[in-house]
Amino acid sequence: MHSKRGSSPKEVPLNPKHPRLVAPFLLVSLSAVLAGTSAGVIALLRSLLALGVLPPALGQIHGRLQIFGFLLPFVLGCSTFVFPRIAAGRPLRHPELALAAAAGFGLSLLLQLAGWALPRLVTPLWRASGLALALAGLFAAAALEGPLAELRRRRQGQAADRGYEPVLEIALLFVALAAATEGLALWRAAAASDLVAPFTLAAAAERLALGGGAAGIAFGVSTRMFPGFLGIDPGRARPPRWTVLLWATSVALGAAGSLAGIPRIESGADLLFALAALSFAARLGLATRRGGPAIDRSRDPLFPWGARVAYASLAASAMLGGLAALGSLAGLAVHLFWTDAARHLLVLGFLSTLVATMAGRLAPGWAGRPLALPWARGVAVFALPLAAALRATEGIAGQWGPAWVVDLAAASGPLGAIGFLGLVASVGTTLARPPRASGRTQGPSVRRAERPAEAEQHQGREGPGEARDLERRRREARGGHGAEPRGDRSVQ
Ligand code: HEM
Repeated sequence: MHSKRGSSPKEVPLNPKHPRLVAPFLLVSLSAVLAGTSAGVIALLRSLLALGVLPPALGQIHGRLQIFGFLLPFVLGCSTFVFPRIAAGRPLRHPELALAAAAGFGLSLLLQLAGWALPRLVTPLWRASGLALALAGLFAAAALEGPLAELRRRRQGQAADRGYEPVLEIALLFVALAAATEGLALWRAAAASDLVAPFTLAAAAERLALGGGAAGIAFGVSTRMFPGFLGIDPGRARPPRWTVLLWATSVALGAAGSLAGIPRIESGADLLFALAALSFAARLGLATRRGGPAIDRSRDPLFPWGARVAYASLAASAMLGGLAALGSLAGLAVHLFWTDAARHLLVLGFLSTLVATMAGRLAPGWAGRPLALPWARGVAVFALPLAAALRATEGIAGQWGPAWVVDLAAASGPLGAIGFLGLVASVGTTLARPPRASGRTQGPSVRRAERPAEAEQHQGREGPGEARDLERRRREARGGHGAEPRGDRSVQ
């Protein structure tokens, strides 16, 4: 539906080619993050106040809620908006599959909670939850594969892919495998007396979901967007084949090592992942600018900060994880604090910060209205990486002190919770609330939304499409070489 003359000046209807699929995913995700973060804060306080060994069920419920309740649905929901635009400019061929995926993630979450509330029924409820989760992952991957397949078809006989396509394809495979593995873990936990899933399955699912699915989509989308958004050289952003191969191998090998319960394979995989992650970080968020205007300096001043600090966290996580892996391979006893610090630098510092950064930038496009409570999104973009950094101090201070640094690490829990509250407030309100009739608005994307004709023109060029336009203009300015292949004129 295109905007009509006389319609509310702030309502910017979405292009019909891009059905509104983001909201159902985000409804699940933003609900889960509050529950998952509360479980994490309780776990952290228990551990730092020395209240005894962390019950494995609490650790698992926190990990599962955050990964399969919050992070994956969020990333996949954003992808229903971003993939058609960056990949083919066509709608998802089967939006009903994406809707079924969002429903599956939500149902899985509700069934798990019902299992806690009704202990006598926990076995059938959790089994059904596992099944719903496995199907949700499969449906989401199948729905999102559509635009990538379309892009492959259009590229036939033309120039080679542009680096991000294979990364996104592999990431979708990891998403489906991760949800199936976690679904199986839930099924098995349902039958265990303490509701703890086999650690082998839970660890494999975590690797596939975080290092594979979520990080893969983050790498692919960043490769596509950052040249225009940050003003970095597109040639530099494009990952070389060895980086993609190293990343995919590290995730597959790590998951196999976890399933087989062989720590040396897991450590080897961690080392490979660290190398791949450092290569991605150097090409994307940590790359220097190579001239040319960066769109988001004017449109979203927080975007460059969020993107760069997220990739700095990824690099820190990779170095810590790589060192821990080297230590393990050398036969040293590596404290769990180290692996936990590397894990939370990845999930809080990199993935969650990038999610908050991207969501703030893209939400006006999903919702057809300005970002609500931009200050709350700003809080998220600052609090999440800071929480991750404080958490990382625990890796060293947890073992050797001093005690005041350990206390500082405790602050990471509430700080992370504040960051997630900011994300929920800003993005949730953007999706839920009708626009104000008057009052101050923020940023140039808002100014666009106030002018329907302009906004309509802009539809389909929101977000990553701008990167493409900018890149093309820059290339033309350099003499017209390397113009986009026709097949990529997708987001008009
Ligand atoms: C404020 C935010 C968070 C806090 C306070 C927190 C806290 C914790 C704590 C205390 C643990 C237990 C560590 C141990 O084994 O000693 C843990 C484990 C874990 N966390 Fe978080 N976390 C947060 C955010 C996240 C996010 C955003 C994710 C993923 C998207 C995540 C994923 C995990 C996973 C997978 C585990 C391992 C669970 C297991 O033992 O099976 N956390 N977290």
